[in-house]
Amino acid sequence: MAEVVFDHVTRIYPGNDKPSVDDLNLDIKDGEFLVLVGPSGCGKSTTLRMLAGLEEVNKGRILIGGKDVTTMQPKDRDIAMVFQNYALYPHMTVADNMGFALKIAGTPKDEIRKRVEKAAEILDLTEYLDRKPKALSGGQRQRVAMGRAIVREPKVFLMDEPLSNLDAKLRVQTRTQIAALQRQLGVTTLYVTHDQTEALTMGDRIAVIKLGILQQVGAPTELYDRPANVFVAGFIGSPSMNLNTHPVVNGKAKIGEDTVDLPKEAVAKLTAEDGNKIVVGFRPEDASLATPDDPNAFSLKVVNVEDLGSDGYIYGNIITDGSAAEASQVMSDQNKLTTIRVNPRALPKVGDTVKIKIDPSKMHLFAPSTELRLN
Ligand SMILES: Nc1ncnc2c1ncn2[C@@H]1O[C@H](COP(=O)(O)OP(=O)(O)O)[C@@H](O)[C@H]1O
Ligand SMILES: [Mg+2]
Repeated sequence: MAEVVFDHVTRIYPGNDKPSVDDLNLDIKDGEFLVLVGPSGCGKSTTLRMLAGLEEVNKGRILIGGKDVTTMQPKDRDIAMVFQNYALYPHMTVADNMGFALKIAGTPKDEIRKRVEKAAEILDLTEYLDRKPKALSGGQRQRVAMGRAIVREPKVFLMDEPLSNLDAKLRVQTRTQIAALQRQLGVTTLYVTHDQTEALTMGDRIAVIKLGILQQVGAPTELYDRPANVFVAGFIGSPSMNLNTHPVVNGKAKIGEDTVDLPKEAVAKLTAEDGNKIVVGFRPEDASLATPDDPNAFSLKVVNVEDLGSDGYIYGNIITDGSAAEASQVMSDQNKLTTIRVNPRALPKVGDTVKIKIDPSKMHLFAPSTELRLN
């Protein structure tokens, strides 16, 4: 077992002018399950491949268990990888697939058998050891791929979107199994995904990356409750946070034709670059229907409603100048509607105008110029 450290690590691919991973500083604690999450192309696989030794590091150092491995051969790093495409050898049995890397490394036969049987037991594959991959379900094949990594008893597991090839239901089951397995084995794990739900449900901590630059690292609830910037706020959480830029008038946010109180300390942090504007964020569950005369609520023109049985959702436009046509400027997506979670037994109708109140303790405020958190 081992701690992993990325120390100012940069990767610029030949021919690219911008780094794919830019000055990354990240510590993964001994035994920790760290999820690296971000949109496609943000540098997740590059980060993982540098740790594996499959990609050159241009600047900085990588340490495993206190040892500098930056220029070390992949085979000497004591890591095991599980990829998205975990191709198994079709002509080999499950047991042979799982033990293949050990056989290549010259491990004695009975030692291989012992480790394979132990891994099979953990993975619930004992009765399938003599089968060929084609006689297994997708989930079982995925577990064999995990088994191949486990039998090597590495210091670090590296997983690059290992659930991408599974259907939605199996993905949910398997993510629970992998998280439980990692806790049982206690092996330091770097897990890469573009799926924020996987990140929230699996990781001890999450590292969010955008365009090669680390945005925030923290426990799932920390990132959910206190996103450090607009990007993390919009990326973590589903349905995603409502984020709009509004004028600041007399210390209040002007939302459509209404005004909403803002904490003084947050407003005080705005600068000239922000041009008397503020980004107000709130999650769909942190707002509710208000009475028409509520002084601290804003108007929303309802364009769609959804009754999911357990939850109801209202989708609407903030009303400006008495019409819904000109909604406030949206940071992440110009056409995004404001989403509010409500009691499904008290849904308004499409076309209604309703008053919405944000829970003031759950408001997320950001500076438009820097997109950094203010409160
Ligand atoms: N071998 C390569 N040569 C040049 N550019 C690459 C190479 N591999 C990846 N990139 C670029 O580096 C960036 C990060 O890629 P990658 O780490 O694969 O992202 P992710 O895994 O987050 O989707 C992308 O812009 C990608 O196009
Ligand atoms: Mg990738």
